[in-house]
Amino acid sequence: PLDHLESVWLFGYGSLIYKTDFPFLHSKPAYIYGWQRRFWQGSHDHRGTPEAPGRVLTLIESAGARCAGMAYEVTPDTFEHLDHREKNGYLRIFTPLHWLDESGETEGVVYLAGADNEAYLGPASDHDIAAHIARSHGPSGPNSDYVLKLAQALRDMSEHDEHVFAIEKQLLALLS
Ligand code: BEZ
Repeated sequence: PLDHLESVWLFGYGSLIYKTDFPFLHSKPAYIYGWQRRFWQGSHDHRGTPEAPGRVLTLIESAGARCAGMAYEVTPDTFEHLDHREKNGYLRIFTPLHWLDESGETEGVVYLAGADNEAYLGPASDHDIAAHIARSHGPSGPNSDYVLKLAQALRDMSEHDEHVFAIEKQLLALLS
């Protein structure tokens, strides 16, 4: 359904913020309303294995919340690559994107993993999430790298994310 468009804005809130292994026309910091990041999705293919899935981000609906990330303008064929990269339970939705500098908004595509997908893990305490991440690794590397890189990328954008920074703090304590 995207093929008739010349280009599409893709909003990244997880690894897409710091890892771009796809071509894009432009990138711009952005945020979405009404969603929050949570390490509630299982990763069988990147940060864990089918036997021992890692924990990666998905979005949960949350009235009034704001989630900042990076938007990329891509051609529709780029989704073939990304759909393969993100095949582990994610689907795409359209949502309004707001530029971080408040210069306007556009419509964009976001990947999210709902509670009904097979890899979904759901909520746990910050400590249990951090402990789970500390012991997980997969073909893309240690699950902890995913959290530490993401937290650093958010700091680089001057963005605070309570959930991500709370998990990072617990994780650093477990790794030290
Ligand atoms: C993201 O960074 O937005 C993302 C990455 C992988 C799966 C879903 C979302």
